[in-house]
Amino acid sequence: MITHDVVVIGGGLSGLRCAIELHERGVDVAIVSKVPLIRSHSGAAQGGINASIGSDDSWESHAFDTVKGSDYLADQDTVEILCKEAPDRVLEMEHWGTNFSRKDDGTIAQRPFGGAGFPRTCYAGDRTGHNILHTLHERILRAGIKVYREWLVTRLVIEDDRCLGFVAMDLLNSELEVFKTKATVLATGGYGRIYQKSTNAIINKGFGISLAYRAGVPLQDMEFVQFHPTTLWGTNILITEGARGEGGYLYNKDHERFMKDYASSSMELAPRDIVARSIQQEIDEGRAFPGGYVHLDITHLGKDLIEERLGGIRQICIDFAGIDPVEEPIPVQPGQHYSMGGISSNKDGATPASGLYAVGECACISVHGANRLGGNSLLDTVVFGRRAGVHAADYVTSLGETSDDPLTQALDSEKTAISEMMGNDGESYSSISEELKRTMQENVGVFREKKELEKAVEDVKKLEARARSLKVRTEAREFNLELLNAIELKGMLDLAHVIALGALVREESRGAHYRTDFLERDDKNWLKHTLAYLTPEGPRLEYKDVNITIFQPQRRTY
Ligand code: FUM
Repeated sequence: MITHDVVVIGGGLSGLRCAIELHERGVDVAIVSKVPLIRSHSGAAQGGINASIGSDDSWESHAFDTVKGSDYLADQDTVEILCKEAPDRVLEMEHWGTNFSRKDDGTIAQRPFGGAGFPRTCYAGDRTGHNILHTLHERILRAGIKVYREWLVTRLVIEDDRCLGFVAMDLLNSELEVFKTKATVLATGGYGRIYQKSTNAIINKGFGISLAYRAGVPLQDMEFVQFHPTTLWGTNILITEGARGEGGYLYNKDHERFMKDYASSSMELAPRDIVARSIQQEIDEGRAFPGGYVHLDITHLGKDLIEERLGGIRQICIDFAGIDPVEEPIPVQPGQHYSMGGISSNKDGATPASGLYAVGECACISVHGANRLGGNSLLDTVVFGRRAGVHAADYVTSLGETSDDPLTQALDSEKTAISEMMGNDGESYSSISEELKRTMQENVGVFREKKELEKAVEDVKKLEARARSLKVRTEAREFNLELLNAIELKGMLDLAHVIALGALVREESRGAHYRTDFLERDDKNWLKHTLAYLTPEGPRLEYKDVNITIFQPQRRTY
């Protein structure tokens, strides 16, 4: 049995920021990560991090944009925290070494982003996540925080609503081990890979979210899935909103800047849900290029500016599409990008199970509501990563000893479950996984309607039934990726079921959840959060109120 006061599961920005806070407060903290730390998906974040550090800007204005962007589903008390703490966290990253781009006077440069009233997005070229990730990683190394690298957590142990630790598998040799903790922090990222077209890394299967769900913790607002408007056609690699922030234009096949028909004031800088729908509509109504894409044109920005601020996407376009955006437009289409929903948690990252925290994309602290603004997710990671560290540090000082029995029992039953998965006589994970991605892509996408959502729910149920006889043929102990994928597939199915069912039941259009059969937002019946609980029959949905402090819901126009 491995023992630490706190273990952070996940090595992205929120997990690292949380671990640093715990360490600085004298807590025995370790990190468990499925991949080497700097391989976390946070490193792929391109465009920037929001903070009202501009002289004309204010946290209230940032909060208003965030709440309006969320289509009034965000909890406004947590949005206030996010926006008030933003300047301190961004300046902290600067002081810790993040290589932010600069204005001529040496202060941090900020660019316009979708749905924002000010140029509020601080950036490091178009490699902002990469820069902050290295800043935090260097601090982890300096602090000497123990890292269990390339371990997969397979099960949380929660007894009487208290998290006692978890079971994890060392991917190096497939050995299972039990971790005893006073507090556990889930910082495991999103689930983009339950879709065919996603900007997410292949590691992003949402398994951390399903760990909590399987242990009895509710998932919140999972039907709100963000589709980024501009992903590279063919591979769906992210092409940052910063490209439009710097002045890029979107054109259809008739060379029309079609955003004038959808968001005449904000044009290309409308929020993501609106731009993604506009592009999808151009595609669906035959005004896109054959194969289903539109053009993102940045050629007029010139080589120097592109090299300085958008050098990463230039290289991506050259390497993955064989085109140079200095010379020609980029073919783009919407792709799954982010999860507004996640493990239900409060302003300190605490979940309903004591000693269990969730931060970053796997969590729903409810600052993004029905649609997240670009630049608010990096901010969310450092604000709430730190806050969870502060809270967990206090929490663990007050705890007494607990019995080891539930942990050893969980280890034994996990060993049995995994050995029963080995064999030749059942389904393989890959066909189930491919069918799952297809049904999510086709039926729970940018535009949704009843029949398709019903089909998705039915498809997922059938796939769940098939997954019960799933078998792993590969016997190798070292990095058995078939075993890893098979274990994670069950989590992917859990999440798909919750997303599709939540979307089917929510009969309105709000933010990224757009029902072609219920076109309007319906505050009377649906200004509420969805909570999903696991039952033997599938997800059970409940609802809870949205916290409204300053901003009364208004019609959302751009
Ligand atoms: O477009 C982007 O650079 C993505 C930013 C974000 O998701 O916040």
